This record gives sequence, structure tokens and C-alpha cells, in this order.
Amino acid sequence: MNEATILNVKHPDGQYDVIVGSGLLPRLRELAHIRGPVAVVTNDQVGPLYAAQVSPVDCVLTVPDGEQHKTLQTVNGLYGQLLAAGIDRTGTIVALGGGVVGDMAGFVAATYMRGVDFVQCPTSLLAMVDASVGGKTGVDLPEGKNLVGAFKQPTAVLADITTLQTLPPAEFAAGMAEVIKHGLISNPRLFMQIEDEGRRLRSMSPVRLQTLVSDAIRVKRDVVQEDPFEHGRRAVLNLGHTFGHAIEQVSGYRVAHGQGVAMGLVAAAHLSARLGYCDTGLPARIEAVLRQVDLPTRIPADLPAEAIYQAMFSDKKKVGMRLRFILLRDVGQVFVADEVGEEDVMAVIREP
Ligand SMILES: NC(=O)c1ccc[n+]([C@@H]2O[C@H](COP(=O)([O-])OP(=O)(O)OC[C@H]3O[C@@H](n4cnc5c(N)ncnc54)[C@H](O)[C@@H]3O)[C@@H](O)[C@H]2O)c1
Ligand SMILES: [Zn+2]
Repeated sequence: MNEATILNVKHPDGQYDVIVGSGLLPRLRELAHIRGPVAVVTNDQVGPLYAAQVSPVDCVLTVPDGEQHKTLQTVNGLYGQLLAAGIDRTGTIVALGGGVVGDMAGFVAATYMRGVDFVQCPTSLLAMVDASVGGKTGVDLPEGKNLVGAFKQPTAVLADITTLQTLPPAEFAAGMAEVIKHGLISNPRLFMQIEDEGRRLRSMSPVRLQTLVSDAIRVKRDVVQEDPFEHGRRAVLNLGHTFGHAIEQVSGYRVAHGQGVAMGLVAAAHLSARLGYCDTGLPARIEAVLRQVDLPTRIPADLPAEAIYQAMFSDKKKVGMRLRFILLRDVGQVFVADEVGEEDVMAVIREP
């Protein structure tokens, strides 16, 4: 078996390792240095596939699958089950699942008994390369996504890439949108390798997959290490997301997050080219890479441009009433732009 890759993450209160490899779940206690009782939080899709691999543990708490269950109500149920299982302050909460489980279990770990240890075992590509690193946890409110939360750093992250074998293809593609985003932010080599691999990416060897996941995590690690509480540099992780979130919202979430991000990355590149910041060939290059992994790249024509523009203002990441875009100078070079005019944004949204 290929040796695991270990990425150390430093944060204001300490540090933790992100371990990327195969066959990690059965070694949970040893790799995450857990001594006390363990409560695994998982969902009804992932639990039946992988919970047995992390045994013996003290309890497995299963929530229903889906973003619609990332709520305070589900969290409330988890608190009760933890108490019933006798988990005290010496306990460790282990998230086993995608980003939904990770965000919710992390929020429980941040608040149960004023905080207990937390370990992430991400099982989706998106959770591995994005959600499980950086310490942001939380739940949704009826008014919007991720409106309640806490920073809670894990004590370890075990990204067992063998779990990706059962990930539905559309979810794999969604994770690839974030991997490609990470390449665009600061790792041109990662982007160009994906560009070269083309459709061969679908039959990636475990060794290649481990490298891909590790490279993508390293980009996020470096950004969150520099800006743990999202005061500055961390904004670059929103590349493609100002457009993406608005597209998702206006489509009534018919366009999934990864798809919205893919469209958003292309839109951000078009905007950068239009404003003269990057080569005019860059949008087509990004589009081609996203298409290789079966992601849509054009904003559906039936979504009104005006509504998309307005929806950008409801994104909680806006600053005052000015829209913030992350723009590209080249692959691997991004910057924050706060002074983009409506006309340019609208022209990009309307791009056929
Ligand atoms: N905290 C952060 O910094 C951060 C960053 C990005 C996204 N997020 C959050 O992450 C969530 C999205 O995460 P996601 O894309 O992983 O969605 P998800 O957790 O809903 O997982 C996607 C689907 O794949 C299933 N699944 C996961 N792993 C599987 C496996 N190995 N085999 C079979 N099925 C599997 C899940 O049950 C689900 O149906 C959102 O709630 C988002 O807000 C958080
Ligand atoms: Zn995203």
C-alpha cells in the first residue's frame, strides 16, 4: 500500500495533521491519537458503508442524508444522543461523511459540554479538499446557508481515499470543481496536470488520486494558515463563488454547488479578461478543464441575468453594498477586486 501523505496545519491554538491515504479508517484511534470515548457522527448513506471500519467506538449516531438536515434541530438530536450514550468532556466526536456531516458534527463538537475533541474523516472529494480543513463549522437556518456556526479546529483529519470509490460521479465532479479552483488560486502545476490528464482522470490510480487530493488540500492549508479567521487572504477561496452562489440561488438550487462553482470560475475568468487582467485565452482554457470532468460551464440561458446580479448582493460575503470578486491574472495568480462595475458583471453573466 502507498504510504500516506501527512500535511501539518498550524492554527492560533495549535496544530493538527491532515493524513491522506488508503485504509486509514480502521486505524482511527492510533492515527488521531484518541484516548477517551469516541462518538461517530455519520449519515444513512455513508454509515452503512464505512462506520464498521472505524469500530470499536462507543456510539455511532446517524443523521438523515442531505443539506436540508444540516439544522439546529438535527444538532439538538445529536446532543441528546451524546448524553444518552454517556459521552463526557473526555470524548471525541468523529465526523464520518461529506461536508454536511463534517460541518454539523464540528458544530456539535464546538458546543457540546463547551467543546470536546473533534476528528474529521471526510468521505467526499469536496469534504477532503475543502470543508474538512480550516476549522469552519456550522448549520443552516431557513433564511440561508451556514448562518450559525463556530470555528472549531479538528485534532486530526483522516482523508481515506478508498472511500471515494463509492462516491456518486456527480459528487466527484463537484469536488473536482474545488480542486480546479485550488489549482487556479495558487498551484499552476496542479491545474496543468489535470489539463494534461484529460479524460484519463476518470481512471486515476490510487497513487495519483492521493497526490491530487494532497495537492488540493495544500492550497487550502496555506491559505487558512495565513488567515485563520477569514479577515483577508482567505477571501481568495471564494474564486468563482460570487457568481456560483448567485446562480445556485436563482436556479432554486437546481444548479448544484459544484456546477455553480464551475460556471462561476468561467465567469470570473471572463470578467478578468474583459477588464484586461488576464490573457483572453484563459476563460476557454478553464472551461476545457472543467468540461473534462463533466462540469457545466455556461450559465443556463433561462436564468435572468438581472436576478443573478441581484442575488450576488444577498451573499453574506459581500462587503457593505459593494460586490467583491476574486479575479485572475493567470493560472495560480488571483487577487481581490472590490471595484467592478455593474455593466461589466452583467456583460459576463449574459455571455452566451
Ligand atoms: N466548513 C467549510 O469550510 C466548508 C467548505 C465547503 C463546503 N462546506 C459545506 O460542505 C457541504 C457540502 O459537502 P459535500 O459536497 O461533501 O456534500 P454532502 O455532505 O451532502 O455529500 C454529498 C453526497 O455524497 C454522499 N457521500 C459522501 N461520501 C460518500 C461516499 N464515500 N460514498 C457514497 N456516498 C457518499 C453524501 O451522503 C451525500 O449524499 C455543504 O453543506 C457546505 O456548506 C463547508
Ligand atoms: Zn465551494
